[in-house]
Amino acid sequence: MKEVASTGSTEKISRARLIELLNEDLSREYQAIIAYIVYSQVLKGAEYMDIARELETHAGEELAHALLISKQVDYLGGMPTVMPQPVRTSEKPKDMLQFDLNNETETIRNYRLRVRQCETLGEYAIAEHIRQILVQEQEHQIDLATALGKDVPDAGMATEPK
Ligand SMILES: [Fe+2]
Ligand SMILES: [Fe+2]
Repeated sequence: MKEVASTGSTEKISRARLIELLNEDLSREYQAIIAYIVYSQVLKGAEYMDIARELETHAGEELAHALLISKQVDYLGGMPTVMPQPVRTSEKPKDMLQFDLNNETETIRNYRLRVRQCETLGEYAIAEHIRQILVQEQEHQIDLATALGKDVPDAGMATEPK
């Protein structure tokens, strides 16, 4: 188990660890559902109407991701978590959009690593599902960065904590 954190090495991943990590992904999906449901309704101001509508669409996509990830946890013999990651709130539209952007970036970092970990275990179908989710997460990230007038952050790839 001696792996260099910065490489994100996946050599020693077990199925049990993959279940744990997918449950962390699921709790991030729950967080995203909640954030998008609330933020899409409370964003006020003419300049935010388009992005508010977009966030409603994101909420539905995050729900589909949560279902897909919980299906994979069950398939692997685990119990899907019921705990969302905490959701931050703010009165300021820019803060809400920034929280969402940060969370999407974190989600992308994690799913990039998860694809590799699934492939290491020979779980190519799970990897394929996660690739499809990744495509939508990157679209979410682009929508948010664009609404904030920012460049899309480089998510990189997560590394396994030691
Ligand atoms: Fe998602
Ligand atoms: Fe997303």
